[in-house]
Amino acid sequence: MPDKKNINLVVNGKPYELLIGKDVLPSDTLAQTLRDTLGYLGTKIACDRGACGACTVILNGQAVLSCTTLTVECDGMSVTTIEGLEDPKTGQLHPLQQAFIDHTAFQCGFCTPGIIMTTKALLDENPNPTEDEIKQALAGNYCRCISHYEVLKAIMAAIQGGKHG
Ligand code: FES
Ligand code: FES
Repeated sequence: MPDKKNINLVVNGKPYELLIGKDVLPSDTLAQTLRDTLGYLGTKIACDRGACGACTVILNGQAVLSCTTLTVECDGMSVTTIEGLEDPKTGQLHPLQQAFIDHTAFQCGFCTPGIIMTTKALLDENPNPTEDEIKQALAGNYCRCISHYEVLKAIMAAIQGGKHG
């Protein structure tokens, strides 16, 4: 995009116009832009090289690693971060978020936003996945605190409770 001066992004339903060279450098990752420029600190950066899934967000409906996605590649796209899951009117947590709390599906919580965003993208595409399909979808999301069993229980409970979309 040689002549492009701005990047237009919609984050959690809110439009942003970012000036290239000022608000966003060509080398900025989406994770950096979300956290450092726009203040969406729910998106975590752990490995910063595409190996752990902590930085997962939903970009135009797909779960992506925001640490390996350049912001300049996202012009005209929509991003959903963990902050975008709660009900914007009531502030009520998304059923997936609530299920993680109800089942204590985390310890330090650093991996949790990425796991929830990967799961959200899966459930948007397949509302009734099997346990194996959930494990497969989450294969790239590492949890150093070994919360995987509780994560699976929380996701299955959210699926059984419905209304997780
Ligand atoms: S921080 Fe992006 S994959 Fe680890
Ligand atoms: S809860 Fe600590 S890394 Fe997953």
